[in-house]
Amino acid sequence: MKHLLSIEQTTKEDLQSILAATKEMKAQRGNHQQLPLEGQTWAMIFSKSSTRTRVSFETGIRELGGWVMFLSDRDIQMGRGEPIEDTARVMGRMVHGAVFRTYAQADVEHFAEYAKIPTINALTDEEHPCQILTDLFTIQEKLGDYEGKVVTFVGDGACNVPISWIYAAAKLGFELRIAAPKEFQPSSEVLHRAGAETVGSVSGWGMDGHFASGGRVLFTENLDQAAEGADVLYTDTLVSMGKEEEAADRIAALKDFQINNALVAKAQSHALVMHCLPAYRGKEITADTMETHAKTIFDQAENRLHTQKAILQWLVS
Ligand code: CP
Ligand code: NVA
Repeated sequence: MKHLLSIEQTTKEDLQSILAATKEMKAQRGNHQQLPLEGQTWAMIFSKSSTRTRVSFETGIRELGGWVMFLSDRDIQMGRGEPIEDTARVMGRMVHGAVFRTYAQADVEHFAEYAKIPTINALTDEEHPCQILTDLFTIQEKLGDYEGKVVTFVGDGACNVPISWIYAAAKLGFELRIAAPKEFQPSSEVLHRAGAETVGSVSGWGMDGHFASGGRVLFTENLDQAAEGADVLYTDTLVSMGKEEEAADRIAALKDFQINNALVAKAQSHALVMHCLPAYRGKEITADTMETHAKTIFDQAENRLHTQKAILQWLVS
């Protein structure tokens, strides 16, 4: 049985096959020859807010012939303390697959183990695999390929989105630079977990990991250095879901780690500005930079739908 639990646990070949299927899903929208979810009911269990992930999965499941139920944890017994393992065993006897957004990565993994139905991580504190698959597809669509490219992530370098980016760079062979203050950089452990052949530091940079795929991951506190020659500048909220109590401290500590016109000028002239959304203008990105690059950013958001459908098809095939 297949699951999409993380980029870490998904092979290069499977990532590539989902990306290829995304292109087909996008081209065939409204005219699908096959309905791989026909006769199936999928549950979406969300313990955190969502616009893009929820709407794209609900739409995508229906467009592939399935039925879908959205279950906020405020409405089901899990929100009142029913264990994940019990919820999973009940779901597993009734529905055909699950899309789960929650806090702990271990909870999604336990769910998959106990439910014994295809399970998708729709975001945890540790990873956001569906987002990164969409982002890779968007880069392919707009720049031809991700291989050999330089992707610079700016902001909270230790949250779910950059962590998934690290595993993607490790497997797929591109350069990822994470520009963040030291306390918002992931630990070197993630580079080892991602299979780095060497982890060291290169002059003027912080941690530097090399991977057999040709991928490389660099950490720096120097924004200009990170943006120099980049093909993609990428950011995410400074205050991830679950971190609301730290909002003021995070915004103060990360205020310089922003995508703005001056930073974009340091990247390549063709550089894409990307954002997983939701965006907080004046924080991780300026309003004018966001609007200048709105076509890319909202194409990226639309691509969530096509990618989710490719993930669903891959899971049930
Ligand atoms: N990017 C993303 O996952 O958005 P939502 O939180 O709205 O689903
Ligand atoms: N890092 C963000 C991503 C939102 C899609 C969060 O976890 O809130």
